[in-house]
Amino acid sequence: MKTPPTKSAPTNPTAPASHNPPAPKNAPPESPVMYETENDLKLDGRVELNRLMNERLASIVDLQMQMKQAHWNVKGPNFIGLHKLFDEIAEALEDYVDTIAERIVQLGGIAEGTVRSAAARSRLPEYPLAIADGATHVEAVARALSTFGAEARTTIDEANALGDADSADVFTEVSRGIDKWLWFVEAHTQAAK
Ligand SMILES: [Fe+2]
Repeated sequence: MKTPPTKSAPTNPTAPASHNPPAPKNAPPESPVMYETENDLKLDGRVELNRLMNERLASIVDLQMQMKQAHWNVKGPNFIGLHKLFDEIAEALEDYVDTIAERIVQLGGIAEGTVRSAAARSRLPEYPLAIADGATHVEAVARALSTFGAEARTTIDEANALGDADSADVFTEVSRGIDKWLWFVEAHTQAAK
């Protein structure tokens, strides 16, 4: 009979094997703490994937709330269409947030998805708070989506380079979705007046 793993406490792969204290609360990102897992991906790769995916998680949590910011504050003749579109994007992003966070945990990492973690690590510029008209929101939303889209696309290659086709697939799905939403948003500006 296979003996189940007895250790469930997080371990720090950078510490000596005999010396793995329990994870400190609010561990800084430069000290990744990993749970033991039977997952066959190598620990070094999982540590790096944990770091990369937590960076993406921060940005996409930020992006989700930026879409809500646009949803709440857009005004003008295209109000209702944009109001609904920005909310649809936020809902889609919520699913991506969950998928990325759970992928982190599946690899033995800790999903660091609090608003404060997102604020500290997001690579997105802050969404402009004082804008109102639809065209300005369309421009700001398109920029936010494309900024995160570039991050997601880069992560496909990074995950593949670390031998993790499944995380690459997650980011392929996310990247494809972001491209679709970018199209929905930019279509408001691409027709001749
Ligand atoms: Fe709403």
